[in-house]
Amino acid sequence: MKIVHVASELFPYMKTGGLADAVGALASALADKGHEVAVFLPGYRAAVDHRDAAGAQRKLRFKVELGNDFLAGDVRVFSPKKNLSIYLICREEFFDRRAPYGNGERDYEDNADRFIFFCKAVVEMLRIGDLGADVVHCHDWQAALVPVLLRDAERRHGVTLALKTVFTIHNIAYQGVFPAQAFARTNLPEELNQMDGLEYYSQINLMKGGILFADRVTTVSPRYTKEIQTAEFGCGLDGVVQTRADDLVGLLNGVDNEIWNPAVDALLPARYSAADLAGKRVCRAELLKRGGFAPEFKGPIFGMVTRLTEQKGVDFVLANREFFLGQDCRLVVLGSGDKRMEEELRELAAAAPQKVFLSTKLDEAMSHLIEAGSDFFVMPSVFEPCGLNQMYSQVYGTIPVVSRVGGLVDTVIDADENPSAGTGLICEPNATSLRDALQRALILFTDAPRHAAVQQRAMAKDYSWKVAAGGYERLYQDSL
Ligand code: ADP
Ligand code: GLC
Repeated sequence: MKIVHVASELFPYMKTGGLADAVGALASALADKGHEVAVFLPGYRAAVDHRDAAGAQRKLRFKVELGNDFLAGDVRVFSPKKNLSIYLICREEFFDRRAPYGNGERDYEDNADRFIFFCKAVVEMLRIGDLGADVVHCHDWQAALVPVLLRDAERRHGVTLALKTVFTIHNIAYQGVFPAQAFARTNLPEELNQMDGLEYYSQINLMKGGILFADRVTTVSPRYTKEIQTAEFGCGLDGVVQTRADDLVGLLNGVDNEIWNPAVDALLPARYSAADLAGKRVCRAELLKRGGFAPEFKGPIFGMVTRLTEQKGVDFVLANREFFLGQDCRLVVLGSGDKRMEEELRELAAAAPQKVFLSTKLDEAMSHLIEAGSDFFVMPSVFEPCGLNQMYSQVYGTIPVVSRVGGLVDTVIDADENPSAGTGLICEPNATSLRDALQRALILFTDAPRHAAVQQRAMAKDYSWKVAAGGYERLYQDSL
């Protein structure tokens, strides 16, 4: 099949979270299976400067209409591996920036224009570049307008640009909601600015367009598929999602085992496997060193790698500061985002630097070291569409402590509830229940045989993308 992906993040060219890992691994796995895969990504500074893009060949020029303006851009194409092409949609005014969505304090003010332009450019390239796509697969709100624009362009030009479109919701909490005036920038017919179109409480909602107009809709875990049809998790789009229930499926993400695999991980000071954990002890020693902790410490290390947002349950961790200060354990946090959360974590680390370490950098190597060197990985999310870190943890023999929501439930089994199959510990999404789970972690850690059994079961799990990509393959074939 000819499969086109459209996304605002793609590892290793631009990443703020799991979206980049998921799209990168899926595209690569589909290419390995012999499909012809193209990925469209905005031409951010880091992507254009990436060494893979140095040989970027074709520079196609295009122009798209954005409201009353005609805006030009160019496309750079390169191929990092067989069957895989990356198309960077470049326009310096919009994408020659360091961060994809905002300056750290708030979102960029021109995000509506930036991503409407991006989606229009993709559709225009499908038209003039004659890609002959079987499936166009769009990810999250930044790409959500593509299924709408594509069918509109087909109608206007009397051509077929893609046989089928798929829209994946990686996170329904981010919808791309903009003031009503932004609708004019799409140049879509006014009838699409209604309740059964993009209109949303007198604004426009780009994700709503993707959900309504794609041929198939997916989310990244079976549990999240059910959750987003409820008012509690649907973030206002639960009713819209329900209208697509017949075309909706939850496909779990996987782990890219060329990148997240302790046996080959070049970012670690030592490699290891379930059969020989000596390298994990080296990683632990290195993590203690990086945290500035005493090297002889023998107790449990709790690790966290996360965007600092309400979603990730950071406040439940902060509410348990007495636990981390009082118990004989260490806490290592790598995360950035919400300034208040950063500040409170910084205060916690300052209160006991011998026990708590915080880095607010974006640090790929440190994220691998935390997964490998910790004993427990803490991820008490309020909601979690899929979550990758709890899977990475299991692969790295680090026991995840997660909350009972979304993809976390689909990927972790509680070792106390299910002693013969458990791979982690599950709490409810609140501070008290997290405290209870942290206490259970301490108990598990002191029971060496049981701890080792949980760890071995976790490491034996197969989360490879070959399995996950097979689900998408079947979905594409089925829709065709
Ligand atoms: P989400 O996409 O909601 O942020 P996921 O668990 O799906 O959550 O994916 C998060 C990804 O982002 C993981 O690969 C994680 O290691 C990475 N990550 C988060 N924060 C940082 C950071 N400060 N430095 C490096 N990697 C990070
Ligand atoms: C989103 C979700 C996360 C998921 C990732 C990749 O960022 O928050 O749960 O793992 O997308 O699908």
